[in-house]
Parts: sequence; C-alpha cells; structure tokens
Amino acid sequence: MSSKPPVLNTNRKFPDGMVSAHSILLKAKNGEKGNVKTNRYAIPAYNVTTFQSINAAISAAEMLGGSAILAFSNSALKFFGNNDQTFGLELVSSYIEKLAKRTKIKIATHLDHGDYISEGGRKVVQAAVQMLTSVMADNSTDHKAGKAMELKDNIALTREVVNMAHPLGLSVEGELGVLAGEEDEDTKSEHSTYTNPDELEQFLTETGVLMLAPTIGTMHGPNKGKPGQKVKLNIDLAHELLKIADKINNEILFVAHGASTLYPEVVDYTLKNLPSTHSSTQKWKDFVGTDWDQIEGLIGAGFAKINTDTENRQTFVAALVGALNKDASKIDIRHYEKVSTEALTQSYLKKYILAGNYGVHFEPKIDISKFKFDLSLDLNASIGVATK
Ligand code: 13P
Repeated sequence: MSSKPPVLNTNRKFPDGMVSAHSILLKAKNGEKGNVKTNRYAIPAYNVTTFQSINAAISAAEMLGGSAILAFSNSALKFFGNNDQTFGLELVSSYIEKLAKRTKIKIATHLDHGDYISEGGRKVVQAAVQMLTSVMADNSTDHKAGKAMELKDNIALTREVVNMAHPLGLSVEGELGVLAGEEDEDTKSEHSTYTNPDELEQFLTETGVLMLAPTIGTMHGPNKGKPGQKVKLNIDLAHELLKIADKINNEILFVAHGASTLYPEVVDYTLKNLPSTHSSTQKWKDFVGTDWDQIEGLIGAGFAKINTDTENRQTFVAALVGALNKDASKIDIRHYEKVSTEALTQSYLKKYILAGNYGVHFEPKIDISKFKFDLSLDLNASIGVATK
C-alpha cells in the first residue's frame, strides 16, 4: 500500500465526558493516573447488552474514579434496537451521552467485532463511525466462509475503516490471528492461530491502527479449556509482539479478547442455588475461564484493554438464580433487575480493581480494601457501606 494511513485526530471534541478509547488506554499503558505515574494498568471493556448493564458499568467506574469502555457487539445492537442495529446505535449513543454529562469520569463507546467483510457488517461499522468513539475492524476471519482472511485482505479492509474513522477522532482496533470460541451469535471459530510476528510490522504500518488484538491463546466464551486444567497464554509471544509494535509507534497498544476469569464464588453460588439434579449443573461445573495471573501477565506486555463479557454474564445469571431460589413469588420485574444489576456492578468492580482501573480521574469514592465480591450481599454491603 503506497500512501500513509491517516493519523488519529486527537483534536476531535466528543460530547462532554466522552473520549476515544485510545486516549484513555494510552494512559493505562503508560501507567498515568491524573498527574501521577504508576504501574501499567488496564481498562476492562465490558460488553453491555441492556440499559441496566450500561448503568452498572458506568456507576462502578464512577465509584472508583476509573474510566469506562462500553463495548457493543452486533447482536447487542440488534437487541437494543429491536432488530435494527442502526437504531440500536442511535439509542445507546444518545443514552450514554446523557449519562456522560453527569459524571466526572471518561467514557468511550466501542463497536466490538465490527467486520468490514460482509455487507451487513460494513453498514454497522459506517453507522458506528458516526455515533461511537471507537470501532473494531475485525477482518481477520471470514466467518461465512469459515476461514482466516489473507493478510493483504485483512490489511486492505482494516485500512478502509482507519481512513474513515481516524480523521473523525475514533480509534480503530484491528485483529491479526484467529481467536477460537464464540464471538457473537453468528461468529464462531473452532481453532485459533497465534499472531505471526513476521506479519505484525506490515499490518501495523499499512493499516495505521493504534489498537491491535493479537491472538496469544485467549478464547471467547465460558469454555476456554479443559475442565480442571489451567489456561496458559503465550506471554512470551505477547512481549515479542510488543517490542515490534513499540519500535513502530509506542502509542500502539494491545487488546486481549477472551479475558474473562471464572470466579469460583460465582460458580459456588450458582450450584448452591440450583437443584443438584438440574440439567445445567454439569455445564456450570465444566466452565473454564482464564485465571487472573495470566491476564495480569498480558497487562505487563502492553495489553491495556481487556475484553470481558462471559464472567459478567455468569454473575448476572448466578444472581438471578439466587433471587428466584430465595423467593419466586415477588411479581416485580424491578426486584429481579435490581438484584442482578447489583451483582453485575460487583462483577464490574471486581475486574476494574484487579486491572488497576481506579483513581484515574479522582480518588475512589469507596474503600477498595473493604470491597467484597459476594453475591449473597447487596451492593452497599459488598462495598462496605453499613445500612441504617
Ligand atoms: P470473554 O468471552 O472471555 O468474556 O471475552 C469477551 C470478548 O473478548 C469480547 O470481545
């Protein structure tokens, strides 16, 4: 490719409180919190699928003075928009803009797994560029054909998105390598291939992306490995890739997809509340997440954005099972929404704290050392607030 890709327009003014994902992620990669330099940290990007989950992700970040990245998959946008993704984008972007005005944290909105391969995917990316602050241009796999894209095609399609998004100030996340697991409703890959370091320089210089999802062994979904076996990521490869990327531009940062950890307290809580003969019991026992120490290893290798969906869905469902088991005679949607959203907020707090996403915009409003991730507690009790 001959011409240089457009650089990210960092002068774009988004609505109050809204920023490109790259601007807050770069601070995380550089360990910047306010004017203080700390260790590298990461910002978990949460896949939100309901207005309640948007509220929960923002309020958890607000309690901690951290940043928030709200990620939308194609199917989530369809769900928000009553089957119309563009309408879904309009609804969520205007909703979040209103919330962002009321907070002092910074919020980015991101299209997750936007593809520029299919006609439908292109439409969503084009609409997202007008309404969000960051997009993923995921062109590493042709899901319809069930095969990896040729490098040159991945580069050409990703570059089209960069050409559109960078001048408008939206950061673009590319993907190089194939990640296994279930990505979204219609997009799954059986096998993964690691990112090839020999292709990295060409991909980064020709696309101009400042955010890249390399594949280093993470997987989407609740079954990331064999039950009883610990998931092992290729942290050495992650460091090798970082060296290459840093040489090109040290503002490039990496994104870990499939960063969900399976929390034993969530599994225990669910199993305690499900009848032991229930058909889902074994499935819960067989779930495998990526342990935190592995994800932590990636943060050290420049992974500033850690995509987290499954563990939060598990927490939500666990809380709902618990609430129904406790009393299924409460005929009030708000009761179940409240219990499951409070649990979701705990789940969000847990990962924000582990990732170090606190004290970025102001000191945390809660005492982090008192936080307990415990689904048998309501939110106030879990954050250490005594109820009168
Ligand atoms: P998990 O399935 O591990 O939560 O990963 C989500 C993800 O990577 C979304 O892009």
